[in-house]
Amino acid sequence: MSKVKIGVIGAGSISGAHLSAYAKNPNVELVAVCDRNEARARQAAEQYGIPSVYTDHQSLLANADIEAVSVCTWNDSHAEISIAALEAGKNVLCEKPLCRTVEDALKVEEAVKRTGKLLQVGFVRRFATNTEVLHRFIAAGELGDIYYAKASCLRRLGNPGGWFSDLSRSGGGPLIDLGVHVIDLLWYLMGRPKAVSVSGNTYRKLGNRSHIQNKTFYKAADYDAAKNDVEDLANALIRFENGASLMLDVSFTLHAKQDEMAIKLYGDKGGAEVEPELAIVGERHNTMLNLTPQIDDLTFNFEQAFYAETAHFAECCQGLHETRSPVQDGVEVTKMLAAIYESAASGKEIRLD
Ligand SMILES: NC(=O)c1ccc[n+]([C@@H]2O[C@H](COP(=O)([O-])OP(=O)(O)OC[C@H]3O[C@@H](n4cnc5c(N)ncnc54)[C@H](O)[C@@H]3O)[C@@H](O)[C@H]2O)c1
Repeated sequence: MSKVKIGVIGAGSISGAHLSAYAKNPNVELVAVCDRNEARARQAAEQYGIPSVYTDHQSLLANADIEAVSVCTWNDSHAEISIAALEAGKNVLCEKPLCRTVEDALKVEEAVKRTGKLLQVGFVRRFATNTEVLHRFIAAGELGDIYYAKASCLRRLGNPGGWFSDLSRSGGGPLIDLGVHVIDLLWYLMGRPKAVSVSGNTYRKLGNRSHIQNKTFYKAADYDAAKNDVEDLANALIRFENGASLMLDVSFTLHAKQDEMAIKLYGDKGGAEVEPELAIVGERHNTMLNLTPQIDDLTFNFEQAFYAETAHFAECCQGLHETRSPVQDGVEVTKMLAAIYESAASGKEIRLD
């Protein structure tokens, strides 16, 4: 089978995870890279031996050699670039979030239907080993009926600045950046029930805390603390058609004692923790059990998950599978995120049915 010829659009931080995974994959050939910052695109091309360099996505998409693209730009261009790529006959792996608004998500979905091309949403946590192992246990009915799920993804000092904290380019703060991952992961593991109502709150109380000294934190490629008009904290309760509920809190900054990453599900036969590390909870012979799967990565392994995500995408491009992270799922998650922001702004519960 011939190699899948890939172009990567956006050559900032996360592109490194796509580029290094593709470079290791014998099924893939990296043929082009693009960034509006030419030096950054050239640096990536040099590092990975990529022959073609572009500074605008339209020129890259005009290259007939390219079969598929990874979209790794800021959130404000995900929809436009994905639609242009689909219309140019390319398959697309679009970084999360799919886009900023439900209106844009529906336009991307329509373009997928119209062109018949593939769009995989970059819900990379679906491809982590700890998720895949748990998914198998859930599919075999080990947790029974999952009726409650809960995630906390709290950074006490973690506003990356730059475009992340510029609402017009990001579409929001920790909710759209971090919440998108954990909402999707729980919803996927719950069996993708239909969300029927959402209640949420957002807060802008602490700002980006860029005055804090002697403590390092993750910063965007073009870090700039001057602009910050996104929330610092969001929480939400999502109700589903099957009666299940999902509770969430996420922050960029918070007076918390430490950062926290907890992703948990509870069913009528068993429970599970995906993070901070995979654990399965059950009951046998009138005795409660905490089971620890004996696997290499009980927690999210960044490199493994990006390799698995991009390898799955390449195999889908070769027609070997249907994607496990289709555009329809990106649309549903966008609806939940938008409803949380709408609920926070209006102070009311939002119905989605
Ligand atoms: N899956 C994950 O865990 C994960 C982690 C981090 C970021 N992301 C996502 O990846 C995307 C990029 O984030 P990042 O941290 O790499 O940001 P970044 O700022 O480091 O890199 C983005 C790059 O895209 C370029 N760019 C922006 N708009 C462009 C356009 N229209 N055409 C060409 N180039 C353009 C910028 O110049 C920059 O070099 C975001 O959507 C973010 O949500 C995902």
